[in-house]
Amino acid sequence: MIIDTHAHYDDEQFCGELDTVFDELKQNGVDKILTCATDFENAKCVLKLCEKYDFLYAAVGIYPHHTKKCPFDEQKLESLASHKKVRAIGEIGLDYYYDDSPKEVQINSLEKQLDLANKLNLPITFHDREAHADSLELLKKYKPKGVVHCFSGSCEMAREIVKIGMYLGIGGAVTFKNAKVLPNVVKEIPLEKLVLETDAPYMSPVPKRGKRNRSDYIKYIAEKIAEIKGISVDTVYKVTSENAEKIFNF
Ligand code: NI
Repeated sequence: MIIDTHAHYDDEQFCGELDTVFDELKQNGVDKILTCATDFENAKCVLKLCEKYDFLYAAVGIYPHHTKKCPFDEQKLESLASHKKVRAIGEIGLDYYYDDSPKEVQINSLEKQLDLANKLNLPITFHDREAHADSLELLKKYKPKGVVHCFSGSCEMAREIVKIGMYLGIGGAVTFKNAKVLPNVVKEIPLEKLVLETDAPYMSPVPKRGKRNRSDYIKYIAEKIAEIKGISVDTVYKVTSENAEKIFNF
């Protein structure tokens, strides 16, 4: 059983091809997918997809870069989150790599969304790009449930995240030739604290790097984790799927 805990199937790269792609994913053992919204507008498309396709579940929230153009609105987000297929608040977080939204705006929106996630007792799917210190500080402050997706921090940060009770999302980056820290993180952190993800259509693993990513490419990630930990791929699927089911109440 394969569970992809982070993807974006409303992306235009899948336009007109979803029926075909989803049939193939099911044939290849993909059982459940959390597809993540990035603002209120696109949350509506995400929810429509989740109504149409059984194995899709949703995260609704405001992505760090959209926090300026899509101001936090508690009522709106709470109403979106009440949809029966919503399993998380996301994709939320901090991203200091680009500056589409100023730091203060990102932090302000994030704190409100963390607060709401806790209030609604929903887990989060968290994005941290080049914002490790501020991300960790806020995660420690709010202690949300959920996953730090596409984890890119140090072993020390990974330990802190696990201590809060959160999980690490491991994606295509672990297969990259230049990956140095992430394999060490995967080696050290117990499988019981890891989940698999693609971030499709982005972040394709080796040997599909540069191509449009999709949830069945998760096998390359599972194989890499099995190799690093010296365990079977089946064990990787079994334990990470159990983790995902527990976190997102699938
Ligand atoms: Ni994403």
